Amino acid sequence: IRRHFSNTSVLNNVIENVTVIGGGLMGSGIAQVSAQSGHNVLLVDVSPEILKNSESAIAKSVARVAKKLHKDDENAANKLKEETLSRIKYVTDPLKSVESSDLVVEAIIENLELKQKLFKSLDEAAPKKTIFASNTSSLSIAEIASTSNRKDRFGGLHFFSPVPVMRLLEVVRIPETTEETFQSMMAWGKAIGKTCIACKDTPGFVVNRLLVPYVSEAVRMLERGDASAEDIDTAMKLGAGLPMGPLELADFTGLDIGVFVLEGWHKKYPDNPLFKPVELQKRMVKEGKLGRKSGEGFYKYTTK
Ligand code: 3HC
Repeated sequence: IRRHFSNTSVLNNVIENVTVIGGGLMGSGIAQVSAQSGHNVLLVDVSPEILKNSESAIAKSVARVAKKLHKDDENAANKLKEETLSRIKYVTDPLKSVESSDLVVEAIIENLELKQKLFKSLDEAAPKKTIFASNTSSLSIAEIASTSNRKDRFGGLHFFSPVPVMRLLEVVRIPETTEETFQSMMAWGKAIGKTCIACKDTPGFVVNRLLVPYVSEAVRMLERGDASAEDIDTAMKLGAGLPMGPLELADFTGLDIGVFVLEGWHKKYPDNPLFKPVELQKRMVKEGKLGRKSGEGFYKYTTK
């Protein structure tokens, strides 16, 4: 009987309907992995044009995943593709999109006021049970949650790029997050195929708190002329077994993102030398060298 009750209570929190707000790279990836694992997904952005891009990015990525998972079975690959794509609906009204949502994952631009405004309006539109989460990589979850009346059902769900490939999900708790909310987020993370780790609401959580200072030091190393970009990257790939070197990674995630994160943390924690902005990186961003997406960063790219 005890088992029956505990199962019932777990089942009450099962997440089936997911709303993803923001159709960029991260939001599209989050929508994709949710749909791939059987969830109904509403992907929200401001315009049908942006959503068209999200849709084609998702279709391309699902095709890669399906090909990999079902190498010798074309029918199974097609089934995975079709079923995944059919579970995602593309919508432009955020308030309507949360009406029957169990979980909202926000992946809009990294702007605190915009996120606060969004969650305040969603709070009024969503049912009581809906869990709210932000995919922010550098802002404080508590500050984002501060405008809503559901801090007990609020947390961080931080994904890594490319979302369909990277296996980690950071699940972030604020002091008000209930154990039930936390467990629901962990269970959902597992259901979408990720390995979850629990994080406190500290700058950069675990991965970016370590990765951002490391990448910054690699840029400073280049700035000092200690080694060439190629040699720094080769060193970390062959000497530390990483899939990409730090400068390749900076190009991959976007130099503007790196600068934005460091400047935000530096402003908040001016005494921490790890968060000191890097001149070379700032200069490159001013020159429009944002990395892969602009065609040039530490390296030049012919395809984005
Ligand atoms: N969708 C689906 N599958 C994809 C994909 C995508 N968008 N991108 C790559 N893949 C698959 C490929 O199909 C390929 O599958 P296969 O093994 O069957 O051939 C596999 O992933 C490897 O891809 P590639 O052969 O194209 O290239 P690589 O072997 O160089 O891998 C990479 C590319 C997965 C990006 C790898 O270089 C890597 O892991 N890099 C590190 C990425 C990283 O550190 N990300 C974290 C960034 S920090 C972050 O996201 C935090 C945020 O807050 C900013």
